[in-house]
Amino acid sequence: MYKMEIRKHPKFHNVFISGPQERLKLYTKNLDVGKRISGEKLITYKGIEYREWDPFRSKLAALILANPITSFLSENLKCLYLGASSGTTISHLSDIINSGIIYGVEFAERSMRQLIQNISNRTNIIPILGDARFPDKYAKYVFTYVDLIYQDVAQPRQAEIALENCNYYLKDEGILILLIKSQSIDSIQKSELTYAKEKEIIEKAGYKILESIKIYKYAANHIVLIVKKVIN
Ligand SMILES: C[S@@+](CC[C@H](N)C(=O)[O-])C[C@H]1O[C@@H](n2cnc3c(N)ncnc32)[C@H](O)[C@@H]1O
Repeated sequence: MYKMEIRKHPKFHNVFISGPQERLKLYTKNLDVGKRISGEKLITYKGIEYREWDPFRSKLAALILANPITSFLSENLKCLYLGASSGTTISHLSDIINSGIIYGVEFAERSMRQLIQNISNRTNIIPILGDARFPDKYAKYVFTYVDLIYQDVAQPRQAEIALENCNYYLKDEGILILLIKSQSIDSIQKSELTYAKEKEIIEKAGYKILESIKIYKYAANHIVLIVKKVIN
């Protein structure tokens, strides 16, 4: 009989896995024991509670399953998360970055209400009701430069929004994880052309695209760019 064993991910800090390589399942250690955020399975293994991390619900999980080369997670990261929604992915990130801090920006009031309920026991998330298109407006809540910006907003100007936030908040050598949804930018133009234009905007601004990864298996019309802010 198959006996489930949860083990450390070989590359990503505080991410856990089970099963064979071709059917890998992801988990994070639940910081808020007993609490589910979006119906995920809770599994206790060797006395520790883990939350199953579903790549169909979380594009960050999909990215990790795609096995990027860049390792961008660590325990004490400072992160700005744009498009926090009701908390699915940001809560897993909160499990991972357990001694760091995540500023979670969301502009929909309803999602923000759900987010606050979902993360009320998590002390490493600061929820901010704000619009990612206007980074200066939430400067009074973000007390520091950050190591990582994660952006998942369905907006027409995705690359520009990311850059404006990076210029404002990202440390030199910091990393941007940019989810690009082609349909939100242009629903008629071929996706490949949309991605090329967004990449050009990033590169023209002097940022370096380290990796460009398709996550179509889990999220249609989405790619993920892993970008570095380089010092000139
Ligand atoms: C695809 S959902 C994000 C899902 C979330 N990242 C997760 O994986 O759990 C996109 C979110 O971005 C929010 N959003 C869209 N435009 C925004 C903006 N300009 N500023 C802040 N949030 C925005 C939407 O309200 C929505 O909740």
